[in-house]
Amino acid sequence: MRPDLIHLTADGVSALLDVRRGRLPALVHWGAALGPIDLADATAIALTDVRPPAPSSPDDPVRLAVLPEQHTGWLGRPGLSGSRDGESWSPWFRVTEVRTGTADADGLITLSGGGRVELEASDDTAQLGLELVIELSAAGVLRAAATLTNRGATYRLDDLSLAFPLPARAHEVLDFGGRWAKERTPQRGPLNVGIHLREGRRGRTGPDAATLLTVGEAGFGFAHGEVWGAHVGFSGNHRHYAERLSSGEQVIGGGELLLPGEIVLEPGESYRTPWVYGVYGDGLDDQARRLHRHLRARPQHPRRPRPVTLNVWEAVYFDHDLPKLLALAERAATVGVERYVLDDGWFRGRRTDRAGLGDWYVDDEVWPDGLTPLVDHVTALGMEFGLWFEPEMVNADSDLARAHPEWIMQTGGRLPVEARHQQVLNLGIPEAYAYVRDRMVQIIAENDVRYVKWDHNRDLVDAGTAPGGAPGVHEQTLAAYRLMAELKERFPGLEIESCSSGGARVDLGVIEHTDRVWVSDCNDPFERQEMMRWTQQLLPPELLGAHIASPRSHTTHRVHDLGFRAGSAFFGHFGIEWDITRAGDSELDQLTEWIALHKQYRELLHHGELVRMDPIDPTLWVHGVVAPDKRAALFAFAFLGRSDAAPLGRATLRGLDDGTRYRVALLTGEDSSGGQPVPAEIVLPGRALRTVGVQVPLSHPDTVWLFRVEAEEWAVGQAVKGTLPALQ
Ligand code: DGJ
Repeated sequence: MRPDLIHLTADGVSALLDVRRGRLPALVHWGAALGPIDLADATAIALTDVRPPAPSSPDDPVRLAVLPEQHTGWLGRPGLSGSRDGESWSPWFRVTEVRTGTADADGLITLSGGGRVELEASDDTAQLGLELVIELSAAGVLRAAATLTNRGATYRLDDLSLAFPLPARAHEVLDFGGRWAKERTPQRGPLNVGIHLREGRRGRTGPDAATLLTVGEAGFGFAHGEVWGAHVGFSGNHRHYAERLSSGEQVIGGGELLLPGEIVLEPGESYRTPWVYGVYGDGLDDQARRLHRHLRARPQHPRRPRPVTLNVWEAVYFDHDLPKLLALAERAATVGVERYVLDDGWFRGRRTDRAGLGDWYVDDEVWPDGLTPLVDHVTALGMEFGLWFEPEMVNADSDLARAHPEWIMQTGGRLPVEARHQQVLNLGIPEAYAYVRDRMVQIIAENDVRYVKWDHNRDLVDAGTAPGGAPGVHEQTLAAYRLMAELKERFPGLEIESCSSGGARVDLGVIEHTDRVWVSDCNDPFERQEMMRWTQQLLPPELLGAHIASPRSHTTHRVHDLGFRAGSAFFGHFGIEWDITRAGDSELDQLTEWIALHKQYRELLHHGELVRMDPIDPTLWVHGVVAPDKRAALFAFAFLGRSDAAPLGRATLRGLDDGTRYRVALLTGEDSSGGQPVPAEIVLPGRALRTVGVQVPLSHPDTVWLFRVEAEEWAVGQAVKGTLPALQ
């Protein structure tokens, strides 16, 4: 017997699916948990979803399924666009099978703690089959994917998108824009009648990707206001949208953006969408924390302490010189670095960014003895060795392009416009894929490479397959994932960083195959504060590469002291992007202290729960991480400019246990009043911290103050297993 209603519920979230009468599943509720409900309750809730017929509208209530269908009278974006020479473009799928892994008791299936629903459907007239998978994870993250199968003659698919309903009280949109070196800048506005459409046509996620398109109650913030967000877990072309109809119905959703003729299904062939995520939260922090918990629960989530990393890019750029790189390695080991990454410039012909991409052989002019002398030194110093690749790219000036010009992505019988002097290597061509894979395998094996910095430095323009020029972004994206997966399988423990002109490939598709992302090429701490704040809306801090840069930032030319640079990178996957052979003794001492401090706290930083305070002043940014048991926390006060007011007064701290008394003590920070820092140390109940707060110190701009917060017993006993140091 098939169920009528399926209640997926976990961690404060419910998704109630209506699958009655063989129709595609409709989410009659998605949001805050419904608590224990029976069939009568569930049926009544489904009834509340039925709108009264409006004048001049279909006679039957319009039904919005996860794959919206027009035959019900739905006049918003349809889930499926495609046709068989003008036919079969408006299907009516009938569900033939529902699998939940649980026996149906009385028409209602409840999957507590989350679960998975698989549905088979078909439209015999349109000769199309559909499989839908809908999951709610234990963290309350919803996701859905669809597979379309062609059961007739050739079918051209233009779009297969999924949508989740938004309640009427969701009015305000938040998503992200951005550009190179300023990724994921937030933008907000009202949701009006029409479509708020975010198309990514770069063939990569993009620095300006919507990232998490959220619609919420008016004025929602980190701590308040219900929000519903959508994310398409895909690194190629993609689409996010929020749509409001004049009839008042509204949805968010998305899918892959298919280029013309990109998916043509021959009889029996299928196309599967990426996962489309739906993330509900009571405030933006709740939404982000759900995603963090969801990601942390994955089997492949990196669990060992995130190695402090030195990446040599901003220290040497293309100027590879063994003695210099050895000296950097020695300095790195001395200050406590655990992973050393050799960036761009090590392979044949790569003296500038104009040549060499694709020729994945160690350049014996620069490296006459190969990478071995460096690798041996790095490993002898107790660090892991990491290496940069840009597998999906090729320079016209390379042996590879000269040998295989047909492997360059192109259409229309011409080469695409170059970007960073490079073209895209077509990994959809099996021979090209095998070449890159084999070169990478050999280099990784020969050099004990434990970490690959996987770069991708241009948008895909005119990305087709020669000679016909058919669009190839879909295949290219899947091939990149496949290559990452193959390398990981071949080299157990290998970690991969997703980098793309800085932070242009940050999404939940690539994160299935990688272990961290490079947030941005901008390491200016002032800019990074904002990028870290918002990138954490999708990913937990341990997946965000955050390095201490040179005193003068290479992208903005601003100069900052070490405390601000280190304090701003402290919460992420910590590292250095600076020529520390030029650092003075005092800087090296400070660096050593910062790294030691980070190691002391990284367990808490990378397993705790994110807290971001809604600002009391535009120049003050307070955020923290609270241990899951709420016995300890670390808060940062970042002063990002000069305020009109000084001092700023009290700032509250959230996320703690109301009934526990906490000692709040200054860890680092420099008071500008010349007097006693306020507060140097104070003991307050969690409830008072949440409702009253602590005095904000008087501070110079461009400074970060760190406060440790410890449940009182810890400070006294220290016998409890934990990671915090004793109070001084
Ligand atoms: C862009 C990256 O974001 C940088 O970190 C660096 O790896 C360069 N590419 C190298 O070309």
